Amino acid sequence: MDPSRLARRLAEAGQSHLLQFWKELSPEEQSDLTFDLQEMDFQEINRFFQKAMEMSSGSKQEKMDARMEPVPREILGSVTRDRERLKDWEEAGLLCISQSKVAVLLLAGGQGTRLGVSYPKGMYDVGLPSRKTLFEIQAQRILKLQQLAEQNHHVKNCVPWYIMTSGRTMESTKAYFSQNLYFGLDQNNVIFFQQGMLPAMDYEGKILLEKRGKLSMAPDGNGGLYRALGNQGVMEDMERRGVEFVHVYCVDNILVKVADPAFIGFCVKKGADCGAKVVEKTNPTEAVGVVCKVDGGYKVVEYSEITLATAEKRSADGRLMFNAGNVANHFFSFSFLRDVVKKYEPELQHHVAQKKIPYVDPEGQLIKPDKPNGIKMEKFVFDIFQFAKKFVVYEVLREDEFSPLKNADSQDAKDTPTTARHALMSLHHRWVLNAGGHFIDENGRHVPAIPRSGGAGRFSDDGKTNLKDGTDLPIKCEISPLVSYGGEGLEELVKGQEFHPNLMIDETGVHQLVKNGV
Ligand code: UTP
Repeated sequence: MDPSRLARRLAEAGQSHLLQFWKELSPEEQSDLTFDLQEMDFQEINRFFQKAMEMSSGSKQEKMDARMEPVPREILGSVTRDRERLKDWEEAGLLCISQSKVAVLLLAGGQGTRLGVSYPKGMYDVGLPSRKTLFEIQAQRILKLQQLAEQNHHVKNCVPWYIMTSGRTMESTKAYFSQNLYFGLDQNNVIFFQQGMLPAMDYEGKILLEKRGKLSMAPDGNGGLYRALGNQGVMEDMERRGVEFVHVYCVDNILVKVADPAFIGFCVKKGADCGAKVVEKTNPTEAVGVVCKVDGGYKVVEYSEITLATAEKRSADGRLMFNAGNVANHFFSFSFLRDVVKKYEPELQHHVAQKKIPYVDPEGQLIKPDKPNGIKMEKFVFDIFQFAKKFVVYEVLREDEFSPLKNADSQDAKDTPTTARHALMSLHHRWVLNAGGHFIDENGRHVPAIPRSGGAGRFSDDGKTNLKDGTDLPIKCEISPLVSYGGEGLEELVKGQEFHPNLMIDETGVHQLVKNGV
C-alpha cells in the first residue's frame, strides 16, 4: 500500500499519530510498520474500543445483585455430593475418549506478565523433583488417558491436543515441543494455532506506540479463541477427525485433569452443549468470578460486579449462595462451538483491562508509567455461556484440581511456583496414603497425614528437616502422570509399604530420592 493511501486511512480513523516518526525510521522499519498497519481494520478497532468503554462504564454503575440466581441443583454435578455416580460418569467419559470423540484445547496465548518470564508459561518448571514443565505434565496426562481408554475398551484412540498461542508465543512454543519430540505424543495430533492481537490504546482511543515504528500489541484475550477457531481452520480439522466433545483449559493450572473423563461423562450424560468446572468459593471477598444465572441465562459474574452483601449471602447449608468459582475449565460440544464460531462470535464484547502500558511520547521518549495509562481489550472464554441451550456445572475440590501459576515467588504472593509445586506434591502424597502406603520419619515413625500440634509431619523442601507447627510444606512426593492419571493404579506399587518423605514414582519404578536426585 502506498504511504499516502495509508496516511489517508489513518487520518480517517483518527490514528494519524502512528506515522509521526515516519521520517526518522529506517527503510526497514518503515516497511515493517507499513506491513503491520495495512493488516489492520482501524474502523473495526475503533468500534471495539467504543463498545468496550461503554460496557465498562455501564458495568461500573449497575450492580448485578438483583438479577442473579445461584446455580440450580438439577444442573449441578459434584464430586462430593454425587459420589455414587462418579464411576458411571468416568466410564462414560472414557468410552467417548476410546472412540476418539474427545479433543483437548489449551489456552496458552497469554503473556504471563505477572510471572515475568520471557518465554511461554507452559515452559515453566516450578521446581518439582522431576523438573517437568507444565507442558510436559499435561502431555503425559494425555498420553496416560489414551492408554487408560485403550485398556478399558481395547481400541487404539487419540485425543488431539489443540494449542492456542499468540503472535508472541507461537514460535517458541512450537520449537519447545519439537525439541522435546512432542513428549511422546504423535506430532500429527498436536495442533498449534494462533489467536489474534489487538493494539493497546490510551483512554481517548489512540493506539499506543511501543517504539517509534512499532505499535503496542497484545493478544485479544482467551475469548479470542472463537475467532481463531474460525479463521485458523481448527473447526474443519476437528470435523475431519470426528471430534464431538472439547475440553478447554488454561495452561497455568498445574493440577488440571486434562480431558477429565468424569467431567466429560457427566456433561455427555446430561446432554449438555456447554459445561463449566467450578471450585467452591468459600471466602466472600475472594476475587474470583462466580457462575450463576442472570436474567435466565448463564454467566460468570465478577466479584467487582456485586455488592459485599450479596457476596456474603449464605444458603441453608451454610455455604455461600454464590459459590460456583469459575476456573476457566470448560466442556463444549463440537456443534455448540461451531454455532458460536459461525453465529455468535461477533456478538461477544471486549472487556477493558486498565494497564500500565509503556509508550513512546510525542517527543519520541519511551515512558514507563507507574499508574494505568491505557487499556487492553480482551474477550473472555466464558462469555459464550449465554448461548448454551443446555448448560451444566461440575463442582470439584480445589485441592485436587486447581492451583494456578500466576505470580513469581515472593513473600506474600499467591499462586506462585512454590504454591503450585506444593499443591501437586500434596495431592500425590494423598494418593499414596489412599492407596495404602505410609510415610515414615527418620525414627521410623509413621508421619501423620495431618500435622499434629508440636510440629511432626511436615518437611522442608529437601525432605530432611522436620518443620515446626504452623509451616505447611507437603511431603515431597511426585508421581509421574505416566504412572497414574488421577490416583488410580497405585496399590500394587505402594500398598502396605513405608516410604521416606522424598518419594518419586515414575515409569521406571518407585524411587527414594536423596537431596539432589534419585
Ligand atoms: P491470565 O488472564 O491469567 O493471563 O490467563 P496470563 O497471560 O496467564 O498472565 P498475566 O495476566 O499476563 O500475568 C488465563 C489463561 O488464559 C490464557 C493464558 O495463557 C492462561 O492459560 N490466555 C490469556 C490466552 O490464551 N490468551 C489471552 O489473550 C489471554
